[in-house]
Amino acid sequence: MTLRAVVIGAGHYLPERVVENAEFEGKIDTDDAWIRSRSGIERRHFVSGDETTSTMATAAALAALAQAGKTPADVDAIILATSTADLTFPSAATMVQAQLGMENGFAFDVQAVCAGFIFALSNANALIVSGQAKRVLVIGAETFSKIMDWTDRSTSVLFGDGAGALLLEAQEGTGTPEDRGVLSTDLNSDGRYRDLLYVDGGVSTGTTGYLRMQGNQVFRHAVEKLASTATTAMDRAGVTADDIDWVVPHQANIRIIQGTAKKLNLSMDQVVVTVQDHGNTSAASIPLALSVGQERGQIKKGDLLVTEAIGGGLAWGAVVLRW
Ligand code: UT7
Repeated sequence: MTLRAVVIGAGHYLPERVVENAEFEGKIDTDDAWIRSRSGIERRHFVSGDETTSTMATAAALAALAQAGKTPADVDAIILATSTADLTFPSAATMVQAQLGMENGFAFDVQAVCAGFIFALSNANALIVSGQAKRVLVIGAETFSKIMDWTDRSTSVLFGDGAGALLLEAQEGTGTPEDRGVLSTDLNSDGRYRDLLYVDGGVSTGTTGYLRMQGNQVFRHAVEKLASTATTAMDRAGVTADDIDWVVPHQANIRIIQGTAKKLNLSMDQVVVTVQDHGNTSAASIPLALSVGQERGQIKKGDLLVTEAIGGGLAWGAVVLRW
């Protein structure tokens, strides 16, 4: 018997406040045409009022639970991928646990920046296949609007806020690529590249800090590393690009998404794209794209997906799963 971590529910939350590219014009030296042509981004959502990473994560989790027909009492573990937890500690995941009214199970955060959801999904899969948990909520949630330097045109126009969640359940499979659920994972990091993308604050500075990025340097690494990790994950799953129904990439830049699809020999018709509406939501981007892709009718039960991401660290990875 092979245990598989199968998606039984997906959900997302986007703040009501939508900020179009044009709103940056006049505040910094940029324009809609530059942002669209260099990144593919047209608008993004920003939190307002009392919204935080944990409140958005809870809303996404409730949507995933509702779709699965489950309650918080059915959940054994919550793994929340985020680099923008409400506080330094406790984890945002335990805040979600409390907001869901759970007195059961355990919860923790995973921090691998934009690749965080891939790392969280891989950890959730490990908990399930090792028999430590039967149902795991895997969430990606971010409030990058809180770490933007609004005077820096090279970063402030790129990021957005939001959350997405999957509910995974242990189910028996046959051990073949025909099984539903996570079929393989591939995780990587290389800390030598820390200066390419980081936040210049934390306990060592006593400030929250602002995101700093050498965008064109990150770009150089992205297509190559994303295609390579996706290929490794497909090899491990025993599938090829011909078998893939949908690529669900991290939504940082349409040109990276197009370049990676091309390298994988996959058509853009097979790629779920949300970057135009969400901007780069870091660890939230993949679960947002999965949930929106399902809502649009693109991703259907039984479809074979490859999902990949890269971000600060550098950290990058991929997961192959059958929906
Ligand atoms: O999610 C985590 C991983 N992050 C990523 O994957 C991001 C990867 N990088 C990127 O997506 C792209 O590198 C960017 C969208 C960030 C930038 O695009 P680019 O084509 O690499 O542009 P660039 O950084 O090489 O900048 C080109 C020019 C520069 O001007 P000069 O030096 O050529 O005169 C920039 O100063 O564009 C200028 N520029 C802008 N102009 C108008 C930078 N930001 C802006 C802006 N508006 N907002």
